[in-house]
Amino acid sequence: MQERTLSIIKPDGVARGLIGDVVKRLEQAGLRIKGMKMIRMSKEQAKGFYKVHEGKPFYESLTDFMSSGPCVVMVLEGENAIEKYRKLMGATNYEEAEEGTIRKEFASDIEKNVVHGSDARETADFEIRYFFSELDIVSY
Ligand code: CDP
Ligand code: MG
Repeated sequence: MQERTLSIIKPDGVARGLIGDVVKRLEQAGLRIKGMKMIRMSKEQAKGFYKVHEGKPFYESLTDFMSSGPCVVMVLEGENAIEKYRKLMGATNYEEAEEGTIRKEFASDIEKNVVHGSDARETADFEIRYFFSELDIVSY
């Protein structure tokens, strides 16, 4: 089933020069990049994006971090894209992530874990619309 998911290279990933490494893995996995831009979220935008985590102990710190520098946001498309990309990312906590995953390879902090990926159809839809208009998404 063709589906879309939202990927973010978080501020730590951009600052550490990992854009190319992440993009290379997406391309090699056959995930098509159909929208891509660099953004800098305000604190309010980060809070809106992570609204599902409002009230959790990590919410304030996470939204400070996500608004602390530029991110690269991408719309990915492909067969089973949501699960496929979650597998490439690895577990939220890099210590529990499988060998060879982006987080296992590059992260060393549970918060600053290099990448974000949508976790279901409904969240993917919300998250893509949060950053992209349909006109920003290229058909090819
Ligand atoms: O990003 P993912 O969907 O794997 O995890 P999440 O549970 O949706 O949490 C969102 C983000 O919050 C994580 O990617 C971490 O950056 C951060 N987080 C944290 O700092 N401490 C936790 N205990 C859990 C999540
Ligand atoms: Mg999540």
